Amino acid sequence: MARRAIVAANWKMNGDLALVDTMISGLTNVKLQDDVSVVICPSSPYLSEFVAKRNSNNLSSVIHVGAQNVSEHQSGAYTGQISTKMLQELSVEFVIIGHSERRRYYQETSTQVAHKVNAVLNAGLTPIICIGESETERATEQTEAVLASQLQPVIDEIGIEKFIDVVIAYEPVWAIGTGKTASNEMAQETHKFIRQFLAKANESVANKVPLLYGGSVNSSNCEELFAQPDIDGGLIGGASLQVEQFKIICSAAKGK
Ligand code: PGA
Repeated sequence: MARRAIVAANWKMNGDLALVDTMISGLTNVKLQDDVSVVICPSSPYLSEFVAKRNSNNLSSVIHVGAQNVSEHQSGAYTGQISTKMLQELSVEFVIIGHSERRRYYQETSTQVAHKVNAVLNAGLTPIICIGESETERATEQTEAVLASQLQPVIDEIGIEKFIDVVIAYEPVWAIGTGKTASNEMAQETHKFIRQFLAKANESVANKVPLLYGGSVNSSNCEELFAQPDIDGGLIGGASLQVEQFKIICSAAKGK
């Protein structure tokens, strides 16, 4: 079983041109273990600059670039939206889809997420699909049902075979930006559930899907989290804005 690890930075609506420079120069000497991809997802206005600086520093084999969202439509009268084709033109390779902030503040549904995943795959880009339960859902033992209800519409839309080109980020909503991380055991148990859920549809595909943990990952807790058998890296918010901390997190990941 060869599964690559991914460390993805989700800058959210943070960062500026100065951070683009600092991050690129900081990552020039990042030490990575085997089979690790680093993906930086700045806000859309910075994508083009990020790619240009990355290329001029000869870092395109080390750093991949991702967007934080995309439209499910190909083109047309959708003011403010960004299409997969536009991202392709900018050499973007990954797209975060269905982050809990998008589900919560912009009412994105799992059906819409499924449509976006389909659009992203059709454009040859890699979706990072975010799923996760709220604090109340965890407390009332609905976690597995919630994760299943977020994943099933995507399986129905694209078919399980296409998950070979998909990355999933499990992010418990209560752990995002709160400093409360899931324990190693809880994170592993939930990742295992996700893999088993996919395996019910296709075991060999399930064993190849990178499953990232997200939610208050930092330079102190990353190593133990990434050592869990079903955790293949992380989706990093706050700590990805601090170059030295982010580099430590990148160095802790390893393909399995
Ligand atoms: P956090 O955010 O690392 O700041 O908790 C993670 C995310 O929302 O992707």
